[in-house]
Amino acid sequence: MLILGIDTSCDDTGVGLVRLEGGRPEILSNLIWTQEVHSRYGGVMPELASREHVERIDGVVSGALAAAGVTLSQVDVLAATHGPGLIGALLVGLMYAKGAAQALDRPFYAVHHLEGHIYAAASEAELEPPYLALVVSGGHTHLFDVPRAGEYRLVGATRDDAAGEAFDKVARLAGLGFPGGPAIAEAARRGNPNAVAFSEPLQGQKGFEFSFSGLKTAALLASKAGATPEDLAASFQAVAVRSLLKTSVRAARHLGRDTLVVSGGVAANAALREAFATSGLRTYFPPPGLNTDNGAMIALAGAAAVLAGRPASPLSIGATAYLPLASL
Ligand SMILES: Nc1ncnc2c1ncn2[C@@H]1O[C@H](COP(=O)(O)OP(=O)(O)OP(=O)(O)O)[C@@H](O)[C@H]1O
Ligand SMILES: [Mg+2]
Repeated sequence: MLILGIDTSCDDTGVGLVRLEGGRPEILSNLIWTQEVHSRYGGVMPELASREHVERIDGVVSGALAAAGVTLSQVDVLAATHGPGLIGALLVGLMYAKGAAQALDRPFYAVHHLEGHIYAAASEAELEPPYLALVVSGGHTHLFDVPRAGEYRLVGATRDDAAGEAFDKVARLAGLGFPGGPAIAEAARRGNPNAVAFSEPLQGQKGFEFSFSGLKTAALLASKAGATPEDLAASFQAVAVRSLLKTSVRAARHLGRDTLVVSGGVAANAALREAFATSGLRTYFPPPGLNTDNGAMIALAGAAAVLAGRPASPLSIGATAYLPLASL
């Protein structure tokens, strides 16, 4: 069974193909077109994103099919993100996939973007619930308990900024460029993680929340006081990773989970991966290229829906900008 997945929730046009044979999904291709147009604005311009998705989607689909060595008519199942995300951007991939499903007379699965991020970690390993899933991306820092496949309970989330957003903002104030995550990681290798004394957010809390806006303010003050970009990057990265790790491990102990999935753009961070390797939990990360937004993760979530025997989505389903995966 061949599954084509599309994600156009933000500024990446992502298309991936996954083959499902005997319960084990295999990624055949994963093509991502990252829009450059936003860099001059310092943030994503929603209307420009929609328009560029419209221009690129055909080419990215053709490229992903060619890379997998298949044609569109060989695709058995279509899947696309229906939320959350930028409404105009979401519509492009969603309508494309629904149109193809209609034309080819194939089932269509609407996928939640965060479920896609979580399933990105399911490609290289047998990922069986129950587990805890930490989604750390540009828009989310959410910890979910997953007792059964397709069931999500929110354990904790950020009170303010997302972790990726904080990496981006600290990189910007340190003059390290965009996107900030990779820039911080690179600069941190030449800096001293103990140079700037950040205090860990929400110390002593009983719950499992996160907070990054205080670190951002502390970083600004340290920068004004003369901290070098490298020391700032190393110290910020260290405290951000420590906070994510400690809260996740505490939540896992509290809920009796021994398996943790860490996904989303920030899960690409090497220091974070090293730190989580010492957590004592069985920890799964997406493979390279599947941490930030992509189409293969949507195809993987579609494959999971097929395996679980979930009914296909009605073609009347629309895009939804605000779409919680689970509530507290
Ligand atoms: N190596 C890295 N270290 C830390 N952060 C990183 C790294 N690589 C990418 N990021 C961060 O990941 C974020 C982008 O991730 P992703 O594409 O998953 O987010 P998004 O799709 O914008 O948000 P969401 O999925 O919440 O809608 C950016 O904030 C970026 O700085
Ligand atoms: Mg994302």
